Amino acid sequence: MSLKEQLNTKNLPKHIAIIMDGNGRWAKQKGRLRMFGHENGTKSVREITEACAEIGIENLTLYAFSTENWKRPKIEVQTLMRLLISSLKSEIKTLQKNNIKLNTIGNTTDLPNKVQRELLDVIEQTKNNTRMTLTLALSYGSRDELLNTIKQISIKVKNNIISPEKIDESVINEHLYTRNLPDVDLLIRTSGEQRISNFLLWQIAYAELFFTDVLWPDFTKNHFYEAILCYQNRERRFGKTSEQLK
Ligand code: IPE
Ligand code: IPE
Ligand code: MG
Repeated sequence: MSLKEQLNTKNLPKHIAIIMDGNGRWAKQKGRLRMFGHENGTKSVREITEACAEIGIENLTLYAFSTENWKRPKIEVQTLMRLLISSLKSEIKTLQKNNIKLNTIGNTTDLPNKVQRELLDVIEQTKNNTRMTLTLALSYGSRDELLNTIKQISIKVKNNIISPEKIDESVINEHLYTRNLPDVDLLIRTSGEQRISNFLLWQIAYAELFFTDVLWPDFTKNHFYEAILCYQNRERRFGKTSEQLK
């Protein structure tokens, strides 16, 4: 039986988030420039997005550019932005064909105008698609998101729109960039690094974590199915005892 056939379609994660890491090292291993790795990383994005649509994952969130990634050499940032524009232009067909809605989280107003325009265009064109939501985290940082949330809620408290006693988890959820998404069930990071790098800190509170040494440009559908199979073999107790779940 193929890995795909082994998946239990009744126990799929509703929301998978991926820290797509290792493009630079992949290129270096091949004696090429980092950009070559980023270019090849876009193939994995297409593969994994398609895999999600095929098996019925409703939400996929990809960490594409962090608030910290602005500190990279200017030339790398520029080429990444250019790559983003060309990928959006070429992938719109795949999104439409697979009935996928595009969404973004992060400080997208920090992105170059051209990128913002392209994003808005694809978001608009795919807004009525219903099979799956693909969220790109762009200029995203979880601390930045939480700071924004706290500021927005504080302003509402100051203006008597919310009373402090009424602030609960749902109020916080409603003010995050991810307000329309369920909590993350499975977080995958490629490239062997075992850290979160400021990604979705609030939203992964009870996510299952899966780390693999595979570099992002080498990450295939089968690697992805392996991660989901691993998830399906775990017992998510949410604080309860194993016996309580039976
Ligand atoms: C991930 O690959 C892509 C981005 C962060 C934009 P890296 O560029 O971080 O690759 P490594 O970690 O240097 O190998
Ligand atoms: C995290 O990868 C950000 C993205 C994948 C977009 P990094 O490569 O930037 O993370 P660190 O700096 O190694 O933690
Ligand atoms: Mg990296």
